[in-house]
Parts: sequence; structure tokens; C-alpha cells
Amino acid sequence: MFAGKTRKSLQVLVFFVYNMKITRKDILTKEAGPRITRIEILSPDIARKARPGQFIALMVNEKGERIPLTIVDATQTTITLIFQEAGLSTRLLGKLNVGDSLYSLVGPLGHATEIKNYGSVILVGGGVGIAEIYPVAKALKKAGNHVTTILGARTKELLILEKKLASVSDELHITTDDGSYGKKGFVTDVLKELLTHTPKTLGTYGPTALVYAVGPIPMMKRVAMVTKDSNVKTIVSLNAIMIDATGMCGCCRVSVDGKVKFSCIDGPEFDGHLVDWTELEKRTKVYTQQEKHICNLSK
Ligand SMILES: Cc1cc2nc3c(=O)[nH]c(=O)nc-3n(C[C@H](O)[C@H](O)[C@H](O)COP(=O)(O)OP(=O)(O)OC[C@H]3O[C@@H](n4cnc5c(N)ncnc54)[C@H](O)[C@@H]3O)c2cc1C
Ligand code: FES
Repeated sequence: MFAGKTRKSLQVLVFFVYNMKITRKDILTKEAGPRITRIEILSPDIARKARPGQFIALMVNEKGERIPLTIVDATQTTITLIFQEAGLSTRLLGKLNVGDSLYSLVGPLGHATEIKNYGSVILVGGGVGIAEIYPVAKALKKAGNHVTTILGARTKELLILEKKLASVSDELHITTDDGSYGKKGFVTDVLKELLTHTPKTLGTYGPTALVYAVGPIPMMKRVAMVTKDSNVKTIVSLNAIMIDATGMCGCCRVSVDGKVKFSCIDGPEFDGHLVDWTELEKRTKVYTQQEKHICNLSK
């Protein structure tokens, strides 16, 4: 009885001492541009519940802001996050090392992706959005789909997770804006080709039933335009600016099919054909001046 209580107390102590600690860190990009880093964080409670498409909100320190990041992978005890250093909070996160702890970590948040056998699916990832499509590609492949993946980056050095995405895809296409690797051009060029000439390799899987895209807003907007012409269901995971990530502040508001939705609790995935992209673009730029100012002050 006493031994049981002691073991339980020890487990609780270990949980508080080690929970939210970084257990692994890798820099995924070379010096070419904004750094992309992968970290593993000990968080058994979130790891056990996480589903593809969901995210966490974390704070690096007590005075920091909450930032949302996608759960890219999970084991029984850890979650993997992959983030690009975009501003102050992601830069501070990039400075943490193995053994350091986060100040707070909440999740899993948002609705999980609907995973089922659609037949043939195309996943499109741009920039750090490549990390965000990985868990979905892996789950869709496991569900028996024919998975075609299109990855896009500005240049070769900024392309991440090529091998990991290849391992869960039947077909992999790569584009770079500058032509330094793969095909020169944009992901939408390949997408257009694929949708107009259905590859013979699809066999019994049939025509594309779903396109799933994550990346910069202009990329997702263009993907939705291309697929609207072909009338293919399109899901996008929106990166609206979030503050509380619990549906309280209204900051992540988006208009979908003329209705107000909160990305954090109603999303982050929505039908790409119904999103008001112009409004979303405007809203994500609202704090640009303040963000630049804060970033300069912190240098
Ligand atoms: C559900 C969700 C999942 C996300 N998953 C990932 C992920 O897996 N990896 C990753 O690198 N990023 C992800 N993001 C974006 C990430 O949250 C932002 O890059 C981060 O909050 C920027 O904070 P910052 O203080 O470093 O930069 P800031 O100084 O706040 O901003 C720097 C620049 O980034 C832009 N920005 C700010 N917030 C966001 C935002 N939420 N989305 C897009 N751009 C933003 C600003 O407009 C500005 O141009 C996700 C966003 C959402 C909403
Ligand atoms: S972030 Fe506040 S409502 Fe979604």
C-alpha cells in the first residue's frame, strides 16, 4: 500500500520535473533563410491524445505570448513540433536547448483531420507547411489512400522533410521558386497538371477526391482557385493569428461561407472554396508594424 503511494508520488514528481522539457532538437535548414527547427517535447498527456491536424499553444517564458504550432508527430510520451523563426516568440523558442522547459503548453487544440479512405488524395505543402501536412499524409496513407504529395520551397536549402514525406507518399513532386531543386515554379503548376491529366498509376483509386493544403495564405488561396475549377473538395489549415487559442478573444476570426468562425475552436481546417481569403490576408497583417517594432527592441 505504502509502496504503491510512494510510486504514485514519484510518478507525479517526475511528471512535474520533466514535463514540457525539450528532449531533442535539430536544425532542419541551412543558412539560406529563416531557420526551421524540430523539437521534441516531453508531454505524455498531449502525446496520447494528439490526432493529425491538431495543434498546441505554448509560451516560452512567463512574459511571452502564446503561439500556436501544429503537432507534427507524437510518441507515447513526446510530441514533435517544427517551427520557422518568424518573429520574437519563435526566435526565443529557437534559443531553447535540450533540457530546457517551456513555461506553458496547452493541447491538443482544434479539430482533427477527417481521416478515411477517399481513394486518391493530393497533399500540398509550402514552406514550413510541409511539416504540417506530414501527420495528415501519414494517416491518409495508413487509411489506404493513393497519396500524391507536392512540396514547394523558395529554394533547395529551405526544403524540409523530403524523405519523411516520400515514405508516406505514392508519388512525390517537388518545386522550388528559383529552380534550384525539383521543378522550377510553384506547387500550383504541378497541381494543375495533375488535376488535368490524372496519372495512369492511380489504377483503381479513381480521380482525386481530396486536396489538402497548408502553407502561406497566397499559396492556399491559389490552390483553392485551381481546385475550384476542377471541382475537387479542398481542405486548408488556416494560420490565422491567435491569442488565447480557446475561442475567447475573437482574434482568429475568419469568414467561411459568409459565416463567422474562430480558427482555434471551429478549425483550423476549413473548406478552401468557402474561405474569405481577402479578409484573412488583411487580418494577418494587422500587427505587422508592432511585430517589427518588438522584434527590433529584442535584438
Ligand atoms: C493552427 C496553427 C498552426 C501553426 N503551426 C505552425 C507550425 O507547425 N510551424 C510554424 O512554423 N508555424 C506555425 N504556425 C504559425 C506560427 O504560429 C507563427 O509563425 C507564430 O505565431 C509567429 O510568432 P512570432 O512571435 O515568432 O512572430 P510575430 O512577430 O508574431 O510575427 C512574425 C511574422 O509572422 C506572421 N504571423 C504571426 N502570427 C502568425 C500566425 N499565426 N500564422 C502565420 N503567420 C503569423 C506575422 O504576420 C509576421 O509577419 C501555426 C499557426 C496556426 C494558427
Ligand atoms: S485565438 Fe482567441 S478566439 Fe481563437
